[in-house]
Amino acid sequence: MLDGTDDQPIEGRTFPPPADFARTASAGPDLAGRAAADRLAFWAEQALERLTWAQAPTETLDWSNAPFARWFADGTLNVAYNCLDRHVEAGHGDRVALHWEGEPGDARSLTYAELTHEVKRAANLLLSLGVRAGDRVIVYLPQIPEAVVTMLAVARIGAVHSVVFGGFSAESLRARIDDAGARLVVTADGGWRKGAVSPLKAAVDEALAVDGDSTVEHVLVVRRGGNDVSWTDGRDVWWHDAIETVEAEHVAEPFEAEHPLFILYTSGTTGKPKGILHTSGGYLTQVAYTHSVVFDLHPETDVYWCTADVGWITGHSYVVYGPLANGATQVLYEGTPDFPAPGRWWDIVEKYGVTIFYTAPTAIRGFMKSGREIPGARDLTSLRLLGSVGEPINPEAWLWFREVIGAGRTPIVDTWWQTETGAQMISPLPGVTTTKPGSAQTPLPGIVVDVVDDHGTPVGNGESGLLVVSEPWPSMLRGIWGDPDRYVETYWSRFGDRYFADDGARRDEDGDIWLLGRVDDVMNVSGHRLSTAEIESALVSHPIVAESAVVGAADETTGQAVVAFVILRNKAKTTQTPEEAVAALRAHVAHQIGAIARPRSVVLVDELPKTRSGKIMRRLLRDVAEGREVGDTTTLADTSVMSVITAEMR
Ligand code: WT7
Repeated sequence: MLDGTDDQPIEGRTFPPPADFARTASAGPDLAGRAAADRLAFWAEQALERLTWAQAPTETLDWSNAPFARWFADGTLNVAYNCLDRHVEAGHGDRVALHWEGEPGDARSLTYAELTHEVKRAANLLLSLGVRAGDRVIVYLPQIPEAVVTMLAVARIGAVHSVVFGGFSAESLRARIDDAGARLVVTADGGWRKGAVSPLKAAVDEALAVDGDSTVEHVLVVRRGGNDVSWTDGRDVWWHDAIETVEAEHVAEPFEAEHPLFILYTSGTTGKPKGILHTSGGYLTQVAYTHSVVFDLHPETDVYWCTADVGWITGHSYVVYGPLANGATQVLYEGTPDFPAPGRWWDIVEKYGVTIFYTAPTAIRGFMKSGREIPGARDLTSLRLLGSVGEPINPEAWLWFREVIGAGRTPIVDTWWQTETGAQMISPLPGVTTTKPGSAQTPLPGIVVDVVDDHGTPVGNGESGLLVVSEPWPSMLRGIWGDPDRYVETYWSRFGDRYFADDGARRDEDGDIWLLGRVDDVMNVSGHRLSTAEIESALVSHPIVAESAVVGAADETTGQAVVAFVILRNKAKTTQTPEEAVAALRAHVAHQIGAIARPRSVVLVDELPKTRSGKIMRRLLRDVAEGREVGDTTTLADTSVMSVITAEMR
């Protein structure tokens, strides 16, 4: 029995595609062959077949100004039209686009006709507030239909959205507003989280109150939490009031394929987040293509659910643009997996008859902890495909997912990609690939990746190295907002003409790819990227801190956890207890960056391990944080420091 309950070792187990899947899979067995035969022709075909263009492109890739790519550059299209109007025009207006489920239990379903109507009105609302093509709009909303409506309305008028996850602090929000030079912020009074309303408008007020004028002219506020808000006349506008004053009709005009669609900030190795820029035609081509073939989407019958928040790239590509471009019916859920009870997600799967379910390993490991009885008490038989994203999925979690959630019969797609890649890059194809627990396996048809050593030479099977993408792809980032040099330096300086993903990877004996995690100073906590530098600079901004070093330590549930080593200023040691200092610093980081960055532990130390040139050796701190024997310390300036830190840790 191939369901993870027998005694067979996990290593070496494989799961051939079920026969019924293979028969109807939207990725036919010849897909890879077609892509390999003529990669650019393959992408041109995807662009023309999957999207509706106002002006069909005749050019595919312009790489003459590498690494700044232009895809389908002479084509024009409207992204929102592709996600909405064309489905209504094709007679699918009555198909549900969103089954939205609020955390308190309220629910609302929107058909494609209704969603199109809402987006047209919202587009007129944005125009009435002075937003024009090319302007930047910050979206700081809970996971409610208005978040999707806003993103599509911004896209519809050719403006550029930058969604900021609702868990980010006022300070992080302001940094993004300033970097993007945003004209408008769309927010809500508050959103529901674990049974309480967490305020959002207040954070916007705080962000805009920071010294120095901001570029923001208006704050558009959706009523969701019902909590009190303070109001700045002339600047703040209630969504529900203003939307009543605008026209219902809006005709989508086409924009060039390379017109900017969105900026999404993500952590890098420095303290300053990078504004990853994505454009229209290539991005939409690849998200639509991957959403169709990787999830084997049959839009007439499937009910798809991706649990990601729209504040992350997964929410952009696989909640908003991919599914809607493909005319899918999907679930959108506002709250946390375990509210009001640990079975909430499975109740939702049962309620809507979810067939395709896409989530993160950290969530799966959380469910493993609370036991199989909870999902076991629900009817999950509608599920036919499961997907994983955000971090390496350990084989045990993979098998549990398949056996307990997928009743031992659903294929699992472990999808590797990044904010920068815009869409999935490495994944098994359901109905085609024989899967292996824990491996993302093969680049998708049309994508060329390799695993190389430090010198850029491809490694052999059975060996590890660094993951690179060898050829440009349609949904690749087009740069870092306002900083072209950083784009070239970060991704293209190491291996010249190949994109360096900053992930380690191994090729197994069959040549399949296993992801090994980040090789830079970026952590992955619950599938979210955080930079050590960003948290370190938040810590040293606190008056009691003299110096700090942050590492990501292995964590059973969240993949990695933030562990901070901090040297306090002498004065601070006399004015508060160590417990008070630790509590203050954890709260400070949460306030500065957001709750996701709050350190799991703060270790107060007297010294940090440094090389003779003064570089902090995080590798050694990681050893300590993970309770391991400390590795080679011979390059330390002071070799005794690690034994002191290890003692302080206890
Ligand atoms: C980093 C990108 C892709 C959307 C969510 C995160 C890690 C992502 C996998 C996977 C192993 C993975 C990588 C990558 N990652 N998916 N299936 N297996 N690792 O987007 O915040 O841009 O983070 O997440 O380390 O570089 P992101």
